Amino acid sequence: MGGKLYGVGVGPGDPELLTLKARRVLDAVPVLAVPVSQRGEESLALGVVRGFVRRDQEVLSLFMPMSRDRTYLVKCWEAAARELLGKLRQGRDVAFLTLGDASLYSTYSYLMEIIQRLDPSVPIETVPGITSFSAAAARLNLPLAKGDEALAVIPALEDPEILEELIPLFPNLVLMKVARRYDEIVRILARAGVAKTSVLATRCGHQGESFSWDLEAGIGQRHDYLSLIIVKGRGQQI
Ligand SMILES: C[S@@+](CC[C@H](N)C(=O)[O-])C[C@H]1O[C@@H](n2cnc3c(N)ncnc32)[C@H](O)[C@@H]1O
Repeated sequence: MGGKLYGVGVGPGDPELLTLKARRVLDAVPVLAVPVSQRGEESLALGVVRGFVRRDQEVLSLFMPMSRDRTYLVKCWEAAARELLGKLRQGRDVAFLTLGDASLYSTYSYLMEIIQRLDPSVPIETVPGITSFSAAAARLNLPLAKGDEALAVIPALEDPEILEELIPLFPNLVLMKVARRYDEIVRILARAGVAKTSVLATRCGHQGESFSWDLEAGIGQRHDYLSLIIVKGRGQQI
């Protein structure tokens, strides 16, 4: 009998934001699989649950780099999926840990799809987690959306200019993965008149957590990968 794969969202950083279900699965599995984007680095997701990991649990680091080269990425994901399958075929359950929620911009989605293709008999359970933007909004006591307002969740775009079209459409936006194109994004928010009603959340729940309502002050600086912007558009009062 093969093992079961769990995809566990561990929340954005604060271990207290781990769900009871995530904690139960973490305690029960013999193998914890964690993504690392550089060989030898400590996984951010593992860092969140470090305090709960036991000595008898195996930690399997899976190399899942950040790259624009799709062919290379797929090769790495397939290699990671095969490593995982190896553990599952030994009859061991594996929890793949991922930051925030497991279904939102997570490498878990690719791994899960590859494993389903390689071996459709593998049982899989996805355990949701608290997203980074929910945690950021909560830290600021800021509603993400009220009443019948829409909320758009947008990754840092290849072409940030598209934000100019989206800002008038949505009263609330969450911009994720903003670090690399921060300056362009903030200039667009300023031109659209929403820079002053937007907030930058960095390393929410991690050491060095910070929030800034002065987005333009951050132009020209380096930004942490764990950064997102919540935009309260259409002239809303904050
Ligand atoms: C690959 S996505 C993962 C999203 C994650 N699955 C979630 O549910 O939030 C990574 C992006 O999420 C955001 N992010 C994740 N954790 C964060 C944190 N603790 N503080 C601020 N932003 C975070 C950043 O925009 C980062 O670039």
